[in-house]
Amino acid sequence: MKLVLATHNNGKIIEMQHALANISVDLITLNDFPHIGEIPETGKTLLENAFIKAEAVYSETGIPALADDTGLEIDALNGEPGVFSARYAGESASYQENCTKVLSKLDGVRMEKRTAKFRTVIAFVGKDEKFHCEGYVNGLIVSKKTGENGFGYDPIFYYPKLKKTFAELKKDEKNSISHRGKALRNFSKILEKQRNHKNVKI
Ligand code: IMP
Repeated sequence: MKLVLATHNNGKIIEMQHALANISVDLITLNDFPHIGEIPETGKTLLENAFIKAEAVYSETGIPALADDTGLEIDALNGEPGVFSARYAGESASYQENCTKVLSKLDGVRMEKRTAKFRTVIAFVGKDEKFHCEGYVNGLIVSKKTGENGFGYDPIFYYPKLKKTFAELKKDEKNSISHRGKALRNFSKILEKQRNHKNVKI
């Protein structure tokens, strides 16, 4: 029983493998299918993009696929970068460039107004089944990158309860509170239910 994680992003892969370690499936990733390149995210929403990626990978591989689409939604920027999080500073922008653009747009904004949310939508596409689930976490955007762990916007996303940015958290800590960790726990629950009640072939 195999499940392919529809991503080449090693930051996501590490978190997903960790969060899904308790479900009895063989996890493989797009790194096992080098001929499948980046899948264009042409959707207008996280939900559309998640299904675009899961459908594409299921149809290429014939293996049930799980795709994650994630956005950082900053209140003071009217929800930006949102669905454009990967390419906020340009088509092939680096994590560094995207963080720098966010920080410069928030220049002068007081800390209490720098509220933000990470949101993840997970789409699953299998032989007889399609479903999606979500997870989110609230935080603040700090004014200076802090921490070395994680990836993407983690060094500027501060989680007040732990008084740390996501890039200062260990993998387990981030998974236990993060948008992706929550979405993946929801995914595991739904999958178990589907397997028990509908005999999903995965
Ligand atoms: P994607 O479109 O879901 O691949 O992700 C959009 C962008 O959001 C990525 O390029 C990352 O920069 C960022 N991102 C996704 N997940 C996370 C996360 O867990 N922490 C920080 N940044 C993330």
